[in-house]
Amino acid sequence: MLTMEIRITDEKTVHPQAGESLYKTLKDNGIYLIASCGGKGVCGKCRVKVLEGQVRSEATGKLLKKDIEEDVVLACKTFPESDILIEIPEESRLVIGDKIAVSKSRHLTDMLRSVEAGFSPKIRRISLELTPPTIEDNISDLERIKTALQQQGIEHIRFSHGFASSMAKALREAGWRVDLVYTDDFEAVSLRPSSHKDSFGLAVDIGTTTVVVYLVNCSVGTVIDVGGTYNSQMRFGDDVITRIVHATEGGELFELRNAVVSDINDIILPIMEKNNISAEDVESAVISGNTTMSQLFWGLDPLSIREEPYIPTLNAFPVWKAGTARIKINSQAPVYTLPCVGSYVGGDIVAGVLASRMHTKSEIALFMDIGTNGEIAIGNDEWLITAACSMGPCFEGSGIRHGMRATEGAIESVKIDPTTYEPFLGIIGNTTPHGICGSGMIDAISELFFSGIIDQRGKLRKDLETDRIRVEDEGPEYILYRGERRDIVLTEADIENVIRAKAALYAGVSVLLKEVGLSLDIVDRVYIAGGFGNYLDIGKAIMIGMLPDLPREKFSFIGNTSIAGAYLCLLSEKMRTEAEEIARKMTYMELSVSRGFMDEYMSALFLPHTDIGLFPTVKEFYKK
Ligand code: FES
Repeated sequence: MLTMEIRITDEKTVHPQAGESLYKTLKDNGIYLIASCGGKGVCGKCRVKVLEGQVRSEATGKLLKKDIEEDVVLACKTFPESDILIEIPEESRLVIGDKIAVSKSRHLTDMLRSVEAGFSPKIRRISLELTPPTIEDNISDLERIKTALQQQGIEHIRFSHGFASSMAKALREAGWRVDLVYTDDFEAVSLRPSSHKDSFGLAVDIGTTTVVVYLVNCSVGTVIDVGGTYNSQMRFGDDVITRIVHATEGGELFELRNAVVSDINDIILPIMEKNNISAEDVESAVISGNTTMSQLFWGLDPLSIREEPYIPTLNAFPVWKAGTARIKINSQAPVYTLPCVGSYVGGDIVAGVLASRMHTKSEIALFMDIGTNGEIAIGNDEWLITAACSMGPCFEGSGIRHGMRATEGAIESVKIDPTTYEPFLGIIGNTTPHGICGSGMIDAISELFFSGIIDQRGKLRKDLETDRIRVEDEGPEYILYRGERRDIVLTEADIENVIRAKAALYAGVSVLLKEVGLSLDIVDRVYIAGGFGNYLDIGKAIMIGMLPDLPREKFSFIGNTSIAGAYLCLLSEKMRTEAEEIARKMTYMELSVSRGFMDEYMSALFLPHTDIGLFPTVKEFYKK
């Protein structure tokens, strides 16, 4: 039987399996579309244009009349019925494997010193000078090593099959003068020539959206190189729930695991080569990620994370080997995983608290990691309470008509003239805008509100004297940028999404504070973490009611604390112990079953809040 053909303009031809959607065929053939909802027909991002042939498309209400007239379809809800020719527009493509700019934090070694953590990676080394075997001295290689170790007072080292299989060659190539590398719980890792004194390690942050790796010299603590890429699990959907569904109901757990492991390998191989470091020389690694990312990285079934009572397979991870993880470094290298607290508060937040040092001070601090999930921790050196709220991926560019990540071409700041209603845009890379990122949306909504273009509920006022507001099929929208091919707009539905996200975060903070019987004015410091935090305008985030109205000097940006915590744990036993204590000490509150959360959330669904008294500086500003 002849199989159907899907031809893609300027690209290859692929063949669908019977009954499968266009999205699935393209994905299985390595052609990735932005599929924020994971192929459910909800996000409207997987648009392609059918140029020739017959298809059957299920209605989703996500396409405009104009799209339908131009034969634009949603790939996830479209099924070829004959050979077809399609065009994939630039804005629908998910570029996997693109490197993202990651800067080295210069403060990490200083931080390590300031907390007096000392250098104590998971691995140790001891020099052995062995006498080469002879006919008379004919004990085995392993006995020879054990005897030399005993002479230095070291016993009980375990030798795995993996270690033993490389031992004979390593001993002879090194002329019997070797360093034995072993873990702090006495398992042999490798034999290195005595001349190779430097030991290297990886600190890895697996985010839902991005993966970042630091290559570290574990002998001195310097970060040698860094690399980052988008988490290619995004081709299965933007948020953790969609990925859990793919891993479980879709039977694609190993595809999800392979996706992130390949991302890590794709980052490390070129940076190891560039720095002339062999895979064998990288002898330990630390992984930091949210609970779902950590389970998927180790190939553990994440099903129970999304089912009541929301229990992950593991919170505290055994130290497994790089070979088991399939990371392309020394296969015997120990891989330490930051412990998780609960289903939706993972090792990345433990790493964040560790890096912020809030658990060592008496002042009460509020820590917020803002991404697809808003993760919140409140406490001090005596107590810690934590929760996570789903904000949706709008601040990472999904679920918003022209949303995009904070990369070149993204509108990141917006100013609106309150008399003419004309916008002035700041664009990353000073180029033509392609879309709007999270910080741009906060700016835009704050400006729209204070110039009177939207009301407290985020509704656009259609009676204003401006052609920037128009009503299309999907409802009213504000034109941020007039383009030759397409305009960039913020729709009322987009504004609603952002208001829902900011309401969830604010409600999460309010509920946690109520849980411990405290009010906001008791908070001495607010730490904001996450890639998003780098661009956030605190004043405007307060204006829309996303952050609490506290004095600006209480806020500190602390960047990507997940990777900072992974770095600290890579180098210090004290830090690993502290991370475990933080995870044990944190009280996890499941907001989805909290009765107060819904009430707080409903009250926060206004700009800035139904109770303006909670936002005194905004009230003052509004009066002027
Ligand atoms: S609408 Fe197709 S992936 Fe979301």
